[in-house]
Amino acid sequence: AIDSNFETNREQVGEEDGVAVWGPVEPPEKQGIRGTHVAVDFDICLADGACLEDCPVDVFEWVDTPGHPESERKANPADEDQCIDCMLCVDVCPVDAIDVDPG
Ligand code: SF4
Ligand code: F3S
Repeated sequence: AIDSNFETNREQVGEEDGVAVWGPVEPPEKQGIRGTHVAVDFDICLADGACLEDCPVDVFEWVDTPGHPESERKANPADEDQCIDCMLCVDVCPVDAIDVDPG
């Protein structure tokens, strides 16, 4: 599962499309955690897609991660600012790749 203390345990190494990237990042095998309020561990995400289908405010969008061992696309929390903290995505992700931190 995603480390819910990633902000303490990892370092922000950059930003992609306005979304924070938390290392370590070594493409293509290691993609890090993406996002802060809504965070997705790209190294755990296996592109199930439930989060994209169920989020009522369309926070997520697919990004391609060719060569990643789990899946070649990931759910990027591109519109995390829109999140209403319903926690649906956290509940539906089959591999617990998502952390939402209300407040
Ligand atoms: Fe979308 Fe709800 Fe997840 Fe926020 S908590 S990203 S609103 S599904
Ligand atoms: Fe990935 Fe989980 Fe969404 S596997 S696509 S973060 S439901």
